[in-house]
Amino acid sequence: MLTQQQLKQNVAQAAVDYVLPMLGPDVIVGIGSGSTADLFIDALAQYKDRFLGTVSSSERSTARLQGHGVNVFDLNDVSKVPVYVDGADEIDHGLHMLKGGGGALTREKIVASVADQFVCIVDESKLVDCMGAFALPVEVIPMAREVVARRLRALGGEPRLREGFVTDNGCIILDVAGLRITDPAALEAQVNNIPGVVTCGLFAISPATVALMSTQSGVVQLKP
Ligand code: A5P
Repeated sequence: MLTQQQLKQNVAQAAVDYVLPMLGPDVIVGIGSGSTADLFIDALAQYKDRFLGTVSSSERSTARLQGHGVNVFDLNDVSKVPVYVDGADEIDHGLHMLKGGGGALTREKIVASVADQFVCIVDESKLVDCMGAFALPVEVIPMAREVVARRLRALGGEPRLREGFVTDNGCIILDVAGLRITDPAALEAQVNNIPGVVTCGLFAISPATVALMSTQSGVVQLKP
């Protein structure tokens, strides 16, 4: 019986195998955040001489990449990112994702938006029929905390401030429980449209291109 850590390690290695044929001297790889992305960083770093560098979605991932001697570029200096690799807190069969458990959702969404492909790396515990059991993280401008919380309650959610947490962008996170997400793209648009919201952790308007999912019997590829 593989532990969750071993499942994460297997999918991180599978992601490296997936991106290896795309690497080249001019290639920049988009890097997500979280414990699975950390393992991907560690595995990818062994091939750092085969590509130009990375763009990163969090200070945490940047520090890990630089610790391995991998170049990290400012997104403002980058025009092409062939592939972005990141984990998720939940993923459904349409490859819509709920992300932001680590609080890096906004930068993740920005870097992912530039990439030609989003490769989502998860273990099988993350696959769900309907997202929402994991509270939806919403990044909010601090002065709008209560305004946004009221609007989220009106949508049927129960927002809770992530205590003692400030995002890399100097904002707060409201974790919204109680949402049954039957139309993830519509909810993503609705929440993102609330004044004061920076972005929410639904990645549904632009789902993943492919998911690599680690199971007890190996890593499988899911397509929408
Ligand atoms: C970080 O903000 C998140 O979006 C992560 O991608 C997500 O929480 C998955 O993290 P793990 O790989 O640690 O489960």
